[in-house]
Amino acid sequence: MKNRSHWSGPLSFFLVAVGSAVGLGNIWKFPYIAGENGGGAFVLVYLLCIALVGLPIFVAELYIGREGQSNIVHTFNVLEKKKSRWRFVGHLGILSAFVILSFYSVVGGWIIDYFLKALNFSFEGRSGSDISGMLNLLFSSPGKQIIYHMVFMFITFMIVVGGISKGIERWSKILMPAFLILLLGLFIYSVTTPGFKDSLVFLFYPDFKMLTPSGVLEAVGHSFFTLSLGMGAIMTYGSYLKKSEDLIKTAFYIGLADTIIALMAGIVIFSIVFTYGLEPSSGPKLMFETLPTLFSKDAAGNVLAMSFFGLVLFAALTSSVSLLQVVVSYFEENSNLSKTAITLLSAFSIFCLGILSALSTNLLSDFYVVEGLTFFDFFDKLSSHYLLPLGGLLMAVFFGWKLDTEEIKKIFLDHPKTKLYFFVLIWSNRILAPLAILIMTINSIFS
Ligand code: PFF
Repeated sequence: MKNRSHWSGPLSFFLVAVGSAVGLGNIWKFPYIAGENGGGAFVLVYLLCIALVGLPIFVAELYIGREGQSNIVHTFNVLEKKKSRWRFVGHLGILSAFVILSFYSVVGGWIIDYFLKALNFSFEGRSGSDISGMLNLLFSSPGKQIIYHMVFMFITFMIVVGGISKGIERWSKILMPAFLILLLGLFIYSVTTPGFKDSLVFLFYPDFKMLTPSGVLEAVGHSFFTLSLGMGAIMTYGSYLKKSEDLIKTAFYIGLADTIIALMAGIVIFSIVFTYGLEPSSGPKLMFETLPTLFSKDAAGNVLAMSFFGLVLFAALTSSVSLLQVVVSYFEENSNLSKTAITLLSAFSIFCLGILSALSTNLLSDFYVVEGLTFFDFFDKLSSHYLLPLGGLLMAVFFGWKLDTEEIKKIFLDHPKTKLYFFVLIWSNRILAPLAILIMTINSIFS
C-alpha cells in the first residue's frame, strides 16, 4: 500500500470537511425541497434527522475511516483484521459517488452558466419573466448543458489530480470564509425585505398536515446528502486524519456549520420568494429564479451575482472533489495505473453517465426511468432516498455492533464528558439511527 498523506492540521481538515458538506445541497437543494414539502414541519424533521441520525453516523464514519487509514473498501478489512464481508459497504459507496456526481456536475454546470451570465451583466434590468426564460433556454439546450457539465467535471478532475493538500486545502482556506461572508451579507439584506417575516413563518412554523411519508423520507435522505454521509466521502477524508483528532467535536461543528448555512440560504431565498410573489414550490428552478431577481435591479446587483455564483461554484467544487476522491482513492490503492490516469478515467466515466441527466430537461424529458422520473430525478432519488440511507444504516450497524466497543471506549475516553457522549454515540448507532432509517423508508415505500 502506498504511503498516505495527512491533513496539515485540524483547521485544514475542518475546512475541507465543511467544504464537502456545504455545497449545492445547502444552497440549491435544501430550499427547494423545503418549498416542495410545505416548509416548517419538513424542516423540523430534517433538523431532527441531522441531530439524531446524521451526527452519530458522521462520528462513526470518521472513526471507521481514521482507524482504517485506507480506502473505503479496504478499511473494513483493516478493522476486522480479515477479509471482511462488510467490504460491500465500500463498493456501495463507490456506486453512490458515481451516481451522485453524475447529476451534481450537471447542476454545477448550470451554476457555471449563471456565473458567466453575471460576468456579462446579463441580469441587469431584467424582468422576472426574462429571468425564468433564461433558465428555460439553458434547459432546452442539450449542447450547452453537456458542455458546462464537462467543464465542471474537468475542473473537479484538475483539483483532484493536484492532490489532497495542495489542491483542496489551499483554496478552501480563502474561499469558504468568503462564501460565508457573502451569505451573511445577503442574509442581513433579506432581514430588511418585506418577505422576511413570511419566510421565517414558512420555514419554522410546523404545519404537520403538510408532511407526507415521502416528505419524511426526503428529509432523512437530505440529512445524509447534505452532510456527505453514507457513501464514504467522510470516511475517505477521515482516513487522512491523524489519530489525535477529537471526532465528536469535529462532527458537531461540521454539522452545525452545514445546518446554519442551509437555513441561512433558505431564509434568503424565501424572503425573495415572498417579497416578489414567487412560487415556493417551484422545484429545482427555485434558486435560479429567486436570486437573479434580486440581482437584476442594477449594476451593483450584477456584481453581487458574480460573487455569489462564483462562490457557489467553488462550494459545489469542494463537494464534487470529495465525491471523485472516493472513487480515485479506491482505484489508486487497487491498480497499477498512475493517479492521473485513474482520475481521468473515473471523471470521464462519470461525465458520460451525467449526459443522461443533462438530457433530462430536453431530448430525454419524456423518457421516464420509473413512474414519472427522468434520469436526473431518478439518480437524485435513488441516491438520496435509498443508497445514502442504506450506506449510513450499514455503517451505523458495523460501528455499533461489529466493532469492539472496548476499543472505541478507549479512544473516546479522554473526553471530559465521555460517559454521556459515549453512551449516546453507541446507542444511536446501534438502535436509534438504524431503526429511524428503516421505519421512515418502509413507511414511504408502503404508503
Ligand atoms: N454534501 C454535498 C452538498 O450538500 O452539496 C453533496 C455531497 C457531497 C453528497 C459529497 C455526498 C458526498 F459524498
